[in-house]
Amino acid sequence: MNKALDPALLHAAESTGTTPGLKMDAYWMPFTANRQFKKAPRLLARAAGMHYWDDHGRQILDGVAGLWCVNAGHARPRIVQAIQQQAAELDFAPPFQMAHPKAFELAERVVQIAPAGMSKVFFTNSGSEAVETALKMALAYHRVRGEGTRTRLIGRERGYHGVNFGGVSVGGMVGNRKAFATGLPGVDHIRHTHEPARNAFSVGQPVHGAEIADDLERLVALHDASNIAAVIVEPVAGSTGVLVPPVGYLQRLREICTRHGILLIFDEVITGFGRTGQPFATQTFGVMPDMITCAKGITNGCAPMGAVLVRQDIHDAFMTGPEHLIEFYHGYTYSAHPLACAAGLGTLDTYAEEGLLTRAGEMEGYFAEVVHSLKGEPNVIDIRNIGLVGGIELAPQPGEPTKRAFDIFLDLYEKGLLVRTTGDTVALSPPLIIERGQVDQMVDMLRGAIRRAA
Ligand SMILES: Cc1ncc(COP(=O)(O)O)c(C=O)c1O
Repeated sequence: MNKALDPALLHAAESTGTTPGLKMDAYWMPFTANRQFKKAPRLLARAAGMHYWDDHGRQILDGVAGLWCVNAGHARPRIVQAIQQQAAELDFAPPFQMAHPKAFELAERVVQIAPAGMSKVFFTNSGSEAVETALKMALAYHRVRGEGTRTRLIGRERGYHGVNFGGVSVGGMVGNRKAFATGLPGVDHIRHTHEPARNAFSVGQPVHGAEIADDLERLVALHDASNIAAVIVEPVAGSTGVLVPPVGYLQRLREICTRHGILLIFDEVITGFGRTGQPFATQTFGVMPDMITCAKGITNGCAPMGAVLVRQDIHDAFMTGPEHLIEFYHGYTYSAHPLACAAGLGTLDTYAEEGLLTRAGEMEGYFAEVVHSLKGEPNVIDIRNIGLVGGIELAPQPGEPTKRAFDIFLDLYEKGLLVRTTGDTVALSPPLIIERGQVDQMVDMLRGAIRRAA
């Protein structure tokens, strides 16, 4: 797996990418500046450990774990073998009224590392589907308990909950919402937590802003709690540019939800599986939601999978009526797909063997110190961090928001570092196997790019 780039692959790669041969017309790329990309393609050919190699054999340090998902690093043998074996043994098993053993094994293993009390797992194929599932579960839960008026869903400004209609509706990033009409009816949003005037350059959790959670009381006063089903937030808002919750904020949100019988959903698609120093951010922050959505790191990004973790009593509320009837009319053809379950088991083995689910906590101090050394570099207006996540916010170029960060992304890719940008924030979320020297390398490269973009 770790051998040098396979010559056959290199040969194939030479006839692709920037050279003629690969037809790039048909593929409409997701969340991509398609025309820019196709003029100067960035094609990845191989990956191992902390690195990618592009189609010209160039090594690229992975500063974002692929897309916040390859937490154990690339091409890990246990995961590769698990997928290979599974494909040969049982390629597909229908998940409705049927199952296969690894679905149960993986659910048990996830429950073992989940916060105590999260004892049921519903599998999906992505974070977006996990979010839809959790929202539907919340509505159906209130209904089976005879509180069917609780139909409103509350999200948060600047939230990201995937791209399906429910997730976009409760989400709060305007770029993801503005083209898609009104979304779900009956949705409202609480304020976001970003307060640079008070909290810029906070190391770890900002100290100001617990009271921002009280904005939920405003919506309760407006809609009445008897009409509100659930509140969904990311414990750390990732896609909007790494917003770390102020000290006490999540606790306060929990208290308000409990007081009003509103379900609290933590969307841990990014924070799940070790990103903040514990298996789930729920454990890092010591606040227990009613449901957790997750995806990405559950299979180390090696097979599409998401999941909703649910409290026992929420599940049990559905388990009424005649036993031959379906209790929850929801599921996907590929829920608990055998390849994804095998990948998930190989992933959890790898995390356990290498202590990766707590490694971000061990690295956090060093990572924070190095990332915050970018303070004072040109146009750096804020730096945020938690676990192995960093957000470096830059002043936008006058009249051209997002361009400075995008130019830095392109420049860094040329120099051999993959980062992610959103707005004018550069996000770092490397695989959890990263070594200190690679943290230094990553931040030094970023420093260079920030200076060149000044
Ligand atoms: C918090 C959160 N929720 C949901 C999603 C959507 O996940 P997916 O892209 O797997 O549908 C993401 C993706 O980044 C996310 O960060």
